[in-house]
Amino acid sequence: MATDKSKFIDYIDEALEKSKETALSRLFFTYQGIPYPVTMCTSETFQALDTFEARSDDIVLASYPKCGSNWILHIISELIFADSKKKYEYPEFPVLECGDPEKYQRMKQFPSPRILATHLHYDKLPGSIIKNKAKMLVIFRNPKDTAVSFFHFHNDVPDIPSYGSWDDFFRQFMQGQVSWGSYFDFAINWNKHLDDENVKFILYEDLKENLAAGIEHIAEFFGFSLTGKQIHTVAAQSTFQAMRAQSQQTHGAVGPFLFRKGEVGDWKHLFSETQNQEMDKKFRECLAGTALGAKLKYESYCQS
Ligand code: A3P
Repeated sequence: MATDKSKFIDYIDEALEKSKETALSRLFFTYQGIPYPVTMCTSETFQALDTFEARSDDIVLASYPKCGSNWILHIISELIFADSKKKYEYPEFPVLECGDPEKYQRMKQFPSPRILATHLHYDKLPGSIIKNKAKMLVIFRNPKDTAVSFFHFHNDVPDIPSYGSWDDFFRQFMQGQVSWGSYFDFAINWNKHLDDENVKFILYEDLKENLAAGIEHIAEFFGFSLTGKQIHTVAAQSTFQAMRAQSQQTHGAVGPFLFRKGEVGDWKHLFSETQNQEMDKKFRECLAGTALGAKLKYESYCQS
């Protein structure tokens, strides 16, 4: 992998260390109506985020948790490497809203392009990102696989607080009482901006279907000029198998849990018929008839 992720790993290890002492009932705090994990976010950092100065060449990668943000981060850093021959260094943990409040001051010194991953709703982004028209890539994944991935992350990683059962987790997920809140609220919020000139939508399932084509679209959007051969090299380095094989080096102990299965349709192993119907109904209520509702190809990926 073309990145030095030691800061990345340090930050993850620190969050896991805090998680060890945190019961599930104390994992969340609410900021402006949305639950966030106390192990990764603080209200001081959220307040400081308002002062963050975005640049027009910042690379913003937005997603709801478990929709493939680490995949996209990897692809972008490989694209930067292929385009510039410069290894992308992570001077900070890349999730914009995570870390200490001073990070935004330190970030002023970082060279462009800066990669800013985020799980924030569009309307919670710092105003300077919108004002300076930084390009934003938004990755979505079908809500059923997203929920299953989220559940496994909690219940498989030894240091992260576990849920009593899948049914418990499903209930909380549907109520939006999980880290970064409701998938559906996130989707409704971003739906209004997917056609903005500086925003590009990408679907996890499409990327699985044709990784090289997806990478080509991402490269085009951010203005990286790569040959077909380079695109294929990046694709070969970005498969689930390639990333999982490197995961301990890139993400530390949590790596193999983070790169768990990487499949489409894993929800079929956990969802009961009642849960299927409940999510189908929620999808219809929130997203049917919207541009995003169509883009998610729900019938293909969420109905058996
Ligand atoms: P699973 O738990 O279903 O395996 P995030 O990075 O946003 O936390 O998302 C994690 C999910 O993305 C995990 O899903 C992980 O396996 C999947 N993922 C990561 N890299 C991937 C890749 N190269 N190809 C397919 N899926 C990938």
